[in-house]
Formats: sequence, C-alpha cells, structure tokens
Amino acid sequence: SLLAVAVLVLSLLWWMSTRRPPGLPPGPGPALPLLGHLHLLDKDFRSTFRKWRRQYGDVFSLYMGGRLVVVLNGYQTIKEALVKNGDVFSERPSIFVMDRIVNNKGVAGSSGAVWKEQRKASLEILREMGLGKNVLAEKVQEEVTHYIKALHSYQGQQVDVSQMTHISISNNICSIVFGQRFEYDDSFFNTLLESVDLNMKTVGGSVVLNFMPWLEYLPGDLFKFKRTLANVDFVENNLIHPVLKEHIDNHTEGNASDFIHAYIREIRKREESGQPTTVNTENLLKIIGDLFVAGTETTATAIRWALVFFLHNPDVQDKCYDEIQRVVGTERAPSMRDKPELTYLEATIMEVLRRGNIAPLAVQHGLSRDVTFHGYTIPKEAIVLPFLETALLDPEAWDEPSAFRPERFIGPDGKLKKPDELIPFGVGRRVCLGESLARVELFLYLATMIQHFRFLPPEDGRLPSLEGVLGVTYSAKPFTVRAVSRK
Ligand code: HEM
Repeated sequence: SLLAVAVLVLSLLWWMSTRRPPGLPPGPGPALPLLGHLHLLDKDFRSTFRKWRRQYGDVFSLYMGGRLVVVLNGYQTIKEALVKNGDVFSERPSIFVMDRIVNNKGVAGSSGAVWKEQRKASLEILREMGLGKNVLAEKVQEEVTHYIKALHSYQGQQVDVSQMTHISISNNICSIVFGQRFEYDDSFFNTLLESVDLNMKTVGGSVVLNFMPWLEYLPGDLFKFKRTLANVDFVENNLIHPVLKEHIDNHTEGNASDFIHAYIREIRKREESGQPTTVNTENLLKIIGDLFVAGTETTATAIRWALVFFLHNPDVQDKCYDEIQRVVGTERAPSMRDKPELTYLEATIMEVLRRGNIAPLAVQHGLSRDVTFHGYTIPKEAIVLPFLETALLDPEAWDEPSAFRPERFIGPDGKLKKPDELIPFGVGRRVCLGESLARVELFLYLATMIQHFRFLPPEDGRLPSLEGVLGVTYSAKPFTVRAVSRK
C-alpha cells in the first residue's frame, strides 16, 4: 500500500507539472501523467487539431508527453507570429531526436547565429545558381528528359510512379549538390537513396522519444533510435564525406559549378578574412543532408498529387496541354522562358500546392524567448506548430476549398493572382529554402509531362483517393496511372 501511495503522489506531481498553468493558450483539459494529451490525438492528428481550433480558437495549446505544444491556426495568426514576431518565432525547438542528430548544424534544424549564417550562405549559393544562365534549371531540364523516357518505357501500361519520381527528384539534388546526376541503376546512388529512405522510416519511430526522452534508457532499440543514429553516421561518413573530400581536393579558386564547390569557395573566402565563422565542412555536411531530406519527398509528393488531380480532372489536363501546344509546340522541350506565357499551367501548379497541402504543419518552430502572443504567455521551451493547412483550405479564403480549380488563381483580366493565404512553403524567415528550386522543378516536370502524355486511370477506371496519408509529408495514397503518349 506504501507503493500505491507513492505511485499516487508521483502521479499527482506529474499531473500538477503538466497542468496548463494560467496564462497559457487554452486547450484540452488536464494532461495525463507521461502522456500529456497524446492519447486524445487521432492517428491523423489534424482532425483533432481542427476540432480543438473550433473549441479553443486560433491559438491553442496541448501537451505531447511532457512537452508544451502551441498550434497556430489561420493565415493571419500564422503571419502575425512568423512574420510580425519573426525575431522570436524563427528558431527550431530543442527536441531530443533532432538535438542528437542535428546538433545545431546545417540549416533546417539549426537555430540562432549558426542558422542565420548557414541560411544566408546556402540561399545565396542557390540564388547564384538560379540566376543568369540558370544552372539550376538546366540541370533539372536534363533530368526531366530521363524521367520522361522512363515514363515512355511503360508504353501506356499502368504504373505506380512513386519510385521513379522519388529517384528522379533526388537526382536533381545530386546534380545541384554534387555536380552530377546518376543513372537510375547506379549503385552509389541507390545506396544513398535507400539510406535516406531508411532514415525517414526509422526516425518516424523515434519521434516518441521527443516527448518521452526517458524511454531511451530502456534496453534494446525499441524506437530504432540507435539504428537511425548509426544510419546517419553511415550516410555522412561513407557516402557524402568521400564526395566532399573529392571536391575539396579538386577545388580550384572561384569554382562554383555545384553547391559543394560554391560552399567551399565561401569557406576559403572566410579563411582568408580570418573572421570567426560557422561556414565550415561540418555544417556543409549537414546542409547536404538537409537538401536531400527537405528537397526530395516534398517535390516528389507534389508531382504525385498533380497526377491524382489530373486523373480526377481530365479537363484541366487538356487545358494545360492546349496551352503548351500553343506556346511551346511539340518540337522542343518547355523551358523557363515559357513560364510567363503558360498562365493556366502556373495556376494549376498553384492549385496543386494549395489542395495538395504537402506540409500541413510546416516544420516545428521554437522561440528565442518567452513571448506574449494574443494575450497569452508562451514560454521559450514551447514547440510551435504553424498549421498551414488552415490557411490553404480556409473556407473564408477559398470558395469550396476542397475542390480542385486552377481558375481560382486567374483574374478577370486573364492574369495570375496570388492570394495571401497560399502559403505552402510557410512564411517568414524560415520560409522554405528550396522554394525557387521546387517551383522550377514543378514547372519543368509538369510542363514536359503534359506535353508528352495524357494521364489516364488504370483500365478498370479506378480513380486515386483524394484523401492522403500524413507522414513526413501529407501524400497521396498509392495509385497507378497510365501515361499514354499524345503522339
Ligand atoms: C523548409 C515546404 C521543397 C529545402 C520548408 C518548410 C515548408 C516547406 C513548409 C518549413 C517552413 C517553416 O519552418 O515554417 C516545401 C514544399 C516543397 C519544398 C511544399 C515542394 C513542393 C523544397 C526543396 C528544397 C527544400 C526542393 C531543397 C532545395 C528546405 C529547407 C528548409 C525547408 C532547407 C528549412 C529552412 C530553414 O529551416 O531555414 N519547406 N519545401 N524544400 N525546405 Fe522546403
């Protein structure tokens, strides 16, 4: 009975410690010891969040395990936090798994001065590659021809394009980062893809540790965290590091032919000036990982969503096709120069990004200090989730938000219009670093795909689901499609 009393007292202490103190944003009732409100969340916890938003308003809070999480809803609220209060809301939170893997290096998971310097350096390099001759677009355009060839090889038979899309989009990152693309059966390339993929899978299981870090001390590797760490190590040391070394050994002054060379140039520049800096090979190594992780699944998911919407809306496909016929014809590949004239295609891409809702909760934000927001006090330790979906599918902003309708982006003058609520890449200082690359990719892939093919459902006419699954991204469920040559 002494044990029972002890358990009761401890539980009570836990309960007190996870009870929402006064001043915090409202949210669901008392948190359970250890679990917080995790037990109340649906498997797809967006539905629970939507319910709580209706109940508690645009800023609500909950406990995931012992961690306080604040969810921001609606475009105005998200903008007010991430833009107007961008000096406070632009960090990444300290989270067990990320702390161990990222260790405040690179760009996607770092904070403070490190993040500022890495973000600026990476963005400048990507911008440089996207300007003038547009090396970035040239590399993507080359990869698109291989992707189209792969689609043609199925000769109009039904196929699940997930794998080949993933491979092709990763190859763009290879071209940009390493300066070379790989054949789809190249062994280095496939090991790299498999390892990154394995990481995405195992790290998913480790997420539990973010909210209950003490579980780390259980024997074995129940949450596959040790496996994840070993795999990250393998990717960095056995795959990326050799390429990095080869670049360093062969770097000639001013060479900026790919991301790694351009970054090495920046390292050398800073070495010469003798200024203290975080621009070094350790951070470069992490950034390379960031670009693969953040830049592959997202864009590949967008292309798969585009196909889902094409199958449901053959008229949209045909309108895009007619426009491409008129502007580009069949004799040459579409290029970035065509973009200003392909208005309907552009509107279609915007609608794919909106309705596809690829990153419904963006990436977790952290705070640089305690902050008063909407009259509430949010402590520095909170994890902040910008619920982008509430802007992308806001019924106040969009007529029939779940309908796929590119026309909503075309004004009465025939010109494109971009409503504020279209924020698939987030907003503020942390806005997606790869937005311009993603836009180049989506434009060149979709324009060329439509130029070559009419996309049809499989013979049995079965259409893919319009409901996706929430994982690292919100992605379309597996489906097959027939890419029938327009010729
Ligand atoms: C961050 C969306 C493609 C690199 C983000 C964020 C979103 C996003 C919502 C989080 C913003 C925030 O923290 O509030 C997307 C979508 C894409 C896409 C929808 C494709 C359709 C790419 C590509 C790259 C990339 C191609 C690679 C070049 C990054 C990086 C970050 C990021 C490095 C972290 C930025 C930082 O922490 O400062 N992206 N992204 N993304 N994205 Fe993307």
